[in-house]
Amino acid sequence: MARLLGARRAKLSPHFPVGGPVEAADLVGREPYVRQAVSRLGDGEHLLIAGPRRIGKTSVMFEVLRRLRRKGVVTAYVDCLGATDVRGLGERLAASLLASIEGREGGLEDARAISLGMRPRGRIRVEHLELVMPIVREGSAQRAFDAALDLPRAVAARVGRRVVVALDEFQAAGRLGPRVFDVMRARFQAQRGVAYAFLGSEEGILEELFSSKGKALYRFAVAHDLAQAGGHRFGIDPSDWQAYLDRKFDAKRISIGETEIDRILDLTGGHPQDTMQLCAALYHFMQDQSLRAVTGELVDAAYEIALRELERPFALHWTDLGGQKYLQAVAKRIARDEPLYAARADGDVPRAEVLRALTALRARGLVMRTGRGRYEYLEPMFAEHVRRLDAVPAIVLGR
Ligand SMILES: Nc1ncnc2c1ncn2[C@@H]1O[C@H](COP(=O)(O)OP(=O)(O)OP(=O)(O)O)[C@@H](O)[C@H]1O
Ligand SMILES: [Mg+2]
Repeated sequence: MARLLGARRAKLSPHFPVGGPVEAADLVGREPYVRQAVSRLGDGEHLLIAGPRRIGKTSVMFEVLRRLRRKGVVTAYVDCLGATDVRGLGERLAASLLASIEGREGGLEDARAISLGMRPRGRIRVEHLELVMPIVREGSAQRAFDAALDLPRAVAARVGRRVVVALDEFQAAGRLGPRVFDVMRARFQAQRGVAYAFLGSEEGILEELFSSKGKALYRFAVAHDLAQAGGHRFGIDPSDWQAYLDRKFDAKRISIGETEIDRILDLTGGHPQDTMQLCAALYHFMQDQSLRAVTGELVDAAYEIALRELERPFALHWTDLGGQKYLQAVAKRIARDEPLYAARADGDVPRAEVLRALTALRARGLVMRTGRGRYEYLEPMFAEHVRRLDAVPAIVLGR
């Protein structure tokens, strides 16, 4: 048994994963968080997991759901960004719940086929079919949505197991209709045996939804802070990164010293996505050049590559900030460590507007306050991207 466990632990994915959610073996520094979330959801508590972009919210939730399933819990995962109307959102929820109890995908399509008098492609159990029939048969989108929202409760009652539903990018559900959140609360609040996890990136918006009096989900879920869990930046203990990077490079027979790992973490601030991106660039660069020992210069070269690779997501993120007046202007001043309030030749920003922008940037988890009138980006690579935005290329200057 001990050997088996050891073998499982040693099973690392071949690369430094970038992009989507990571496998358990590449989930750095989240063990305490995952354990707590599993136990709280298992006890029926609803959780709110809000945090800045790309810090691993979805990765954490996937691992939590895997562990809950191993304990016999029925789970569902829905990405609310993927739905274009309330019926679609309801169907996603139903499809995911059905997959969990049937142990295969495609159950909802089968149910739909049966309701139309056609032959289903797979076999679906009668008792499960009965559960989803009210949804697939319903002509009104609103009523189909309502029926889908009742499904977690119905499943818990029918199969006699706990149900945990994760709603990712939850804030996006708001654009599907004027009263979506009210309808959800009304449906969710009396469900026995069901726990909900609400995840999302637009921290400010999500928090308002759950913590402002008069908002639909006021006090419905307890915030389980991921971004600062354990008091660490992004909630990850730097020593967990140290251990992971050490082991991972070692598995690739590349040597890396503590100084170089520290350099990596200094450059990325330990931001999960940026750290992975830099390490992936470093690894591929070394592979291509048949190099076996990481040096400070190689880390710096990888940093430049990673910064270029992150240009697109960073640019999109930057455009997002353009939606609110003065946000970009203040964000630039912070990145360049310029006085925040001083009048400037390139246009003055009124003091009240600077304060408003600072509040918004903090609510988005983009900057933190480090002292009186002093702010810093949580994500140093994004700050660097912003610093370079208006920089005149060296080639133009003839350097
Ligand atoms: N704990 C972690 N350990 C290692 N890498 C991580 C971790 N969390 C996130 N990452 C890196 O960040 C990337 C994005 O992770 P994930 O999609 O889970 O984040 P997210 O917060 O859900 O992002 P989004 O804001 O886009 O929804 C992963 O592909 C991986 O490179
Ligand atoms: Mg996500």
